[in-house]
Amino acid sequence: MDLAGRVAVVTGAATGIGAATARMMASRGATIVGVDRNGAALDALCAALPGSLALVGDVGDEATVAAHAGAVAERFGAADILVTAAGWSTGKGVVGSTLDEWNAVLNTNLTGTFLWCRALLPGMVARKAGSIVLVGSQLAFAGGRSNAPYLASKGAVASLGRCMALDHADDGVRVNVVVPGAIDTPLLERAFARSADPQAARARSVARHPLGRLGRAEEVARAILFLAGDDASFTTGSCLMVDGGWLAA
Ligand code: NAI
Repeated sequence: MDLAGRVAVVTGAATGIGAATARMMASRGATIVGVDRNGAALDALCAALPGSLALVGDVGDEATVAAHAGAVAERFGAADILVTAAGWSTGKGVVGSTLDEWNAVLNTNLTGTFLWCRALLPGMVARKAGSIVLVGSQLAFAGGRSNAPYLASKGAVASLGRCMALDHADDGVRVNVVVPGAIDTPLLERAFARSADPQAARARSVARHPLGRLGRAEEVARAILFLAGDDASFTTGSCLMVDGGWLAA
């Protein structure tokens, strides 16, 4: 799919799914604005993507997002595409979570999504064109143990996506949610590492997928690319599972 002339803002662009998405969109002609709090990895990514802009900071911080959105407006005018991939988990249940931990996960995964959508939607609405892809999680649909703030945040992200899709259907802006299964990224590696037996945790995760393996970041990026671009012109308010069959099983 050709994305020439499009400006794509990708949060969580430094590693994993966000990085794969940024690279793939750039390879199709998009100009990338990468956002991440991991400055070193983000700078390395953007250095390899000509014309891109690296914005280092916390997606959950209102002032930071406002400043970053201002930088996007100044350099590019409005953005055509927003992908919200910034996210993380603690691997803790309700009882084991402090309020700070709960708030920190919600602040990145949900509030960060809200803040970036709120910052870029007006420009999309004004031009009657835009596409937003939120990154959800299969666990928000299937359930999962010892990850309460994460699952709650991702369930809310799916609801937020449907809500924005309806609110902006008349504005020429589409909003969709990609729902990955377990994808081999630093986030998943950290999740396995929290377990007493990381190898066994990995094997259990593999076994949950009827396709018999973990997903690759590029496989999710391809779905994001589809949802973000004109090939998905009649798709809004959807949750696209890229989960190796996890939710069907
Ligand atoms: P990752 O850890 O490789 O990438 C996440 C990126 O988000 C990192 O570069 C990190 O620095 C950045 N980030 C985290 N909090 C941030 C904040 N407050 N402000 C700015 N940047 C922040 O993880 P991965 O796997 O690529 O995750 C991408 C998205 O996919 C996340 O939303 C995650 O929840 C979701 N996901 C991942 C799955 C997996 O198995 N890897 C499964 C389902 C969903």
